[in-house]
Amino acid sequence: MKKVLAINYSQTGQLDEIMERFLSPMVGVDVDRVKIQLKVPYGFPWDSDRFFEVMPESVMEEVVELQDFDLTHDAYDLIVLGYQPWFLSPSIPTTSLLKHEKFKAVIQGKPVVTVIGARNMWLNAQDSIRALLSAAGARQVANIPLIDRSNNLTSAVSILHWMLNGKKTRPMGIFPKPGVSDEDIWQADRYGAFAKKALETGEYDDLQRDVLSLDEIRIPTNILFIEMRAKKLFRIWARIIKKKGTTVAKRKRWLVGFKYYLIFALFVVSPIVLVIFNLFLRPFELGSIKRKKEYYCGVN
Ligand SMILES: Cc1cc2nc3c(=O)[nH]c(=O)nc-3n(C[C@H](O)[C@H](O)[C@H](O)COP(=O)(O)O)c2cc1C
Repeated sequence: MKKVLAINYSQTGQLDEIMERFLSPMVGVDVDRVKIQLKVPYGFPWDSDRFFEVMPESVMEEVVELQDFDLTHDAYDLIVLGYQPWFLSPSIPTTSLLKHEKFKAVIQGKPVVTVIGARNMWLNAQDSIRALLSAAGARQVANIPLIDRSNNLTSAVSILHWMLNGKKTRPMGIFPKPGVSDEDIWQADRYGAFAKKALETGEYDDLQRDVLSLDEIRIPTNILFIEMRAKKLFRIWARIIKKKGTTVAKRKRWLVGFKYYLIFALFVVSPIVLVIFNLFLRPFELGSIKRKKEYYCGVN
């Protein structure tokens, strides 16, 4: 019987639900289902201070201590790694897992499918995941990013409502429901069926092509534009906050600065810059946009 390790962290349970649906076609497969927990959990719902507090360490890819986790087998045929981005980086629990000796040992030389449950910005995080998988000697054979498909600005309001109130409901009844839609979660089994077929033959070369054949994974050009610029700025902020935030009070002041910067950048600067980009620059960048989308839709 083929052995699969399916492992992820999830704070609200959304990524757990996606993983369960993805794994549902794996009948007749020995699936070792592992849910990562932290030694000191992040409280949920967040409050605004604690939410922004994790930005520098997410971006700098620092680790926290995980609770011990048991793996049933020494070796697996396939690893399914679920993850969520935090501040355009892998979530701290995911980074901690990918830097954990036990996990690195079990994924070495193995095919890995990544399953993402994000708002809509996962490209930079995926760069980090690729680097961490490659450092561990693993081979990423497919990537399935599930996102909130509503508009970038309204989904930012909805997700903050969800994160700060703990309810995956429509804010004020007018904004869209936050997170990955129930329909997209439900249909994640289609990707699991492709993965099972590849697992049975041990042939993963066509898996990502199968995933893309459903034509569900699309990278909006505006999101690509924002992500290609924002991470550099996040890195600068993260370094400054870590360097200057030498006391609790100083760190807090810098984090409040970042919070207002982010709100201003998201709701004021980015709409203006995007209009200018779409009117004047986009026609000259069609080739580079296409290449970047192909790169992020692939796994090589
Ligand atoms: C601190 C924090 C930062 C986040 N940053 C991003 C981000 O940069 N891009 C994105 O698409 N989603 C972001 N999200 C949403 C998460 O990726 C994820 O979809 C959501 O938290 C639900 O995941 P869960 O399964 O862990 O509950 C963020 C969430 C949190 C809590």
